[in-house]
Amino acid sequence: MKIGILTGGGDCPGLNPVIRAIVRKAYNDKHETIGFNNGWKGIIEGETITLDLNSISGILPKGGTILGTSRTNPYKKAEDVQKVKENFKKFGIDALIAIGGEDTLGVANKLCKEGLNVVGVPKTIDNDLSATDYTFGFDTSVNIAMECIDRLHTTAESHHRIMVVEVMGRHAGWIATYAGIAGGADVVLIPEVPIDLDEVCGILKKRHSRGRTFSIVVVAEGAKMKASDMTKDQSLDEFGHVKLGGIGDYLGKEIEKKTGYETRVTVLGHIQRGGSPTAFDRVLGTRFGIKAVELVENKKFGQMVSLSGTKIVAVPLEKGVEKLKTVDMELYDIAKVFFG
Ligand code: F6P
Repeated sequence: MKIGILTGGGDCPGLNPVIRAIVRKAYNDKHETIGFNNGWKGIIEGETITLDLNSISGILPKGGTILGTSRTNPYKKAEDVQKVKENFKKFGIDALIAIGGEDTLGVANKLCKEGLNVVGVPKTIDNDLSATDYTFGFDTSVNIAMECIDRLHTTAESHHRIMVVEVMGRHAGWIATYAGIAGGADVVLIPEVPIDLDEVCGILKKRHSRGRTFSIVVVAEGAKMKASDMTKDQSLDEFGHVKLGGIGDYLGKEIEKKTGYETRVTVLGHIQRGGSPTAFDRVLGTRFGIKAVELVENKKFGQMVSLSGTKIVAVPLEKGVEKLKTVDMELYDIAKVFFG
């Protein structure tokens, strides 16, 4: 069989371990592999990259993706879907493994319905894909954010300041909640729960009234004020997502104004997506990659690999993309125990 591979959407640590596992398993089982550059753009434009044992040598610890990525949506233009179909034939692809988040897998699902043999591998640092317990990349991001929070703690304590830390999380506050719990945040704010500024300031004042002279506030980039819609940039990407940012700065200013405590803001941004994957993400990515090849071999198209408890299973792509997985409120309640 000839198996095509592409990585779409925002990059994330763990993509290279998935690619490596697919290529290695395919090689062992006597299949051929070919990479498409830069997500769906590569298959639309017919830009390919050789994927053999040489090309995967040494990529396991590398962040990002050797295939490159983009947020290209073939369903933006009818002719692009046609080009995808033509290039499937032209390159003699028997099956495509699409590695991506809700957008990439949404396209994979549609193409499958149009008769193409596609299998999905779920990826996002946001961990907001349904039908899998975790996506790879999330664990690395949480560890990066946690380490940053640890570092901010020592400077916050020395200067007796409030530190607002903005982390990624477009629609779901998984990174904020996990990094907040792991880093000992005094307040965690997530998109699932609109921010009540008076309540936040009340929590900080209470903490300071019992002798604390510094606090850490973790806020997800997609968190919204109860009263207003905070977005820095209203331009949309090809999948219709607003570019986020600005909530940390806004919150920092408002907290300082309302409490009188000196406040500083740190936006972690793409630092959370860069660098080497953790052991957890390397192992999860490797297991996902191998399972994806097994799905292809068993002609289980229209499925995506998924982590269910400790097992890697297959679920319909549809299940993965039908709705976003938001933060479990029982987990958020655990973070709340340490507020103030
Ligand atoms: O979807 C993952 C993610 O990292 C989000 O957390 C974030 O909002 C977005 O991607 C940033 O996208 P870009 O890399 O296009 O700025």
